Amino acid sequence: MFDIKIYGDPVLRKTAQPVTVFDSSLKNFLTEMTETMIEKDGVGLAAPQVGESVRIAVIDVTGGEKEPLVLINPEFIEKSEELEEAEEGCLSVPGIHLNITRPKTVSVRAFDSEGKEFFIKDADGLLARALQHETDHLNGIMIVDHISALQKKMLSTKLKKLNKTGRDTSEIS
Ligand code: NI
Repeated sequence: MFDIKIYGDPVLRKTAQPVTVFDSSLKNFLTEMTETMIEKDGVGLAAPQVGESVRIAVIDVTGGEKEPLVLINPEFIEKSEELEEAEEGCLSVPGIHLNITRPKTVSVRAFDSEGKEFFIKDADGLLARALQHETDHLNGIMIVDHISALQKKMLSTKLKKLNKTGRDTSEIS
């Protein structure tokens, strides 16, 4: 199982690189990511959260009922104008839950572990939210970036504590 990188770790702020090689080491990495997500009770996990700056995410919105969804090099091909607010947490920002407004439905193009392209059309609800949350991670974006400066200020004590674990002093002013 991988360790989860915590808020303040610079790897969480990098733009992740596309996957170009679909080999057995990628499959091993995906297996360990999936195990880590399940072990930590996450709805999703992005590779930067385990310290690898590559465009990979795993998602399970079924509570373990189905095989987790593997997304490699995901891209949005559509986002609805209609928005929806819901509460989100993040394994890299433990103990903090925030109401975040995002497009209600999204369509995604991605590749599977074999390098085969696939599409998810008009995802909504928790899946739409997870797709956006995990893709944010691949672009160095975290849940605290979706709230106002005032809200962030109100969280500053908690974030500073987390940041000590992550050790990037520039993260919090
Ligand atoms: Ni997250």
